[in-house]
Amino acid sequence: MPFITWDDCYSVHIPEMDEEHKIIIKIINQLDDVIKDGKDQYVIGDIINQLIEYTITHFSNEEKLMAGFGFPELEKHKRIHSSLCEQARIFLNEYNSGKSISAEKLMKFLWEWLLDHIMGDDKKYGQFYTKINTKNQETQEVLIK
Ligand SMILES: [Fe+2]
Ligand SMILES: [Fe+2]
Repeated sequence: MPFITWDDCYSVHIPEMDEEHKIIIKIINQLDDVIKDGKDQYVIGDIINQLIEYTITHFSNEEKLMAGFGFPELEKHKRIHSSLCEQARIFLNEYNSGKSISAEKLMKFLWEWLLDHIMGDDKKYGQFYTKINTKNQETQEVLIK
């Protein structure tokens, strides 16, 4: 059974971002699988690296998108992304230094690190985007009439 199954409640209602969030969930599930299979620390470390790399790309795509539709809380969101990257770097360093980190602690960290962010902060730009899109549609409908 996957650690996380995509659910519509995770949706930010912007298809490109939902697709990227689904990829993040897929990598977290892969990580959960290799941990359950008892794979060694290098395999696990490699997937954590992939997850962090992909997430950094995702953060940058998200920031470009938010800037594109004039999200007023962009700077705040960027600061949250930087702090999440910093936390991941610290976590990865600890992991690479051979410090023993339980699988439970790792998955709890990822849950808080990413899913709480998607469900909380990311939803805010999603709601803003939906609101301005609905307004634009209403304006167009008035113009057509
Ligand atoms: Fe995101
Ligand atoms: Fe974000």
